[in-house]
Amino acid sequence: MKTIGVLTSGGDAPGMNAAVRAVVRTAIYNGLKVMGVKQGYNGLISGNIEEMNLSSVADIIHRGGTILRTARCEEFKTEEGRKKALTVLKVFGIEGLVVIGGDGSFQGAKKLSELGIPTIGIPGTIDNDLGYTDYTIGFDTAVNTVLDAISKIRDTSTSHGRAVIVEVMGRHCGDIALYSGLAGGAESVIVPEEGFNIDDVCKRLIQGRNRGKLHSIIILAEGVGKAYELGQEIQEKTGIETRVTVLGHIQRGGSPTAFDRILASKMGAKAVELLLEGKSARVIGVKGNELFDMDIDEALSLEKDFDKGMYNLTKILSI
Ligand code: F6P
Repeated sequence: MKTIGVLTSGGDAPGMNAAVRAVVRTAIYNGLKVMGVKQGYNGLISGNIEEMNLSSVADIIHRGGTILRTARCEEFKTEEGRKKALTVLKVFGIEGLVVIGGDGSFQGAKKLSELGIPTIGIPGTIDNDLGYTDYTIGFDTAVNTVLDAISKIRDTSTSHGRAVIVEVMGRHCGDIALYSGLAGGAESVIVPEEGFNIDDVCKRLIQGRNRGKLHSIIILAEGVGKAYELGQEIQEKTGIETRVTVLGHIQRGGSPTAFDRILASKMGAKAVELLLEGKSARVIGVKGNELFDMDIDEALSLEKDFDKGMYNLTKILSI
């Protein structure tokens, strides 16, 4: 193998740049040529591809977003689109591809590997919603961004004696809510995996007020939905003035944490090593502190485990 490509796809995540940097530098260290594919699978179809060198990835380890840009590409989901991509890969002499993204991006990588292009997936999404790995790149940064927001919201919530619902991202996964809720000392954490009982949420708020608490933070995962209706209902049931803050895309940006930079650097390097070993259709994950690789199909078939113990702890610690 002489030339490899790298792309970022799907929703961006802090740490993607660190992963791209690691792929490019490890590849060059091993004598490979690296092509950067722009805007995810769109770039593979349109040929928006440029050779990268050591300087192309200088000064990016600390930056959020992705210098390769990203997209959710509908055309690549069609056979026609993938055929075009295959032609482009041949034209640019790309013999192996590293795909940094979430489950949708991995589906694309799998299809390419079936067409004979060796592919390796690196998990990059703030959602932490992939069943095969403990952590995805970007999750830790997103949780820390939420924590920072919670601290600020707590200040004003205390001043006014209000309850605040903080809606966080995660799609169908409650991990951002769970981790930020535990770390932020939230009164309630509402996640799609567990559902919730409005009376229980209200009881907690009232109990807190009765023992002199001035602020009340409720973390709501977006997968549960209806933040504003919930806020209204809580206000009516408890008589506590309630506000809603939807954090939105602020969670997708920002400088990656040390954890995400290190994870991304290790995974980027490993992806190149796997391609050099002749592997294909593998994804990289982390369990405990150890990196591993797994068949892409197997990885995609694994259900995400929700950490019930941690969820129960949020309840115990917020009495
Ligand atoms: O998958 C990452 C994510 O930020 C989800 O948490 C969220 O539901 C979605 O992407 C938002 O997508 P978009 O940026 O396309 O609005």
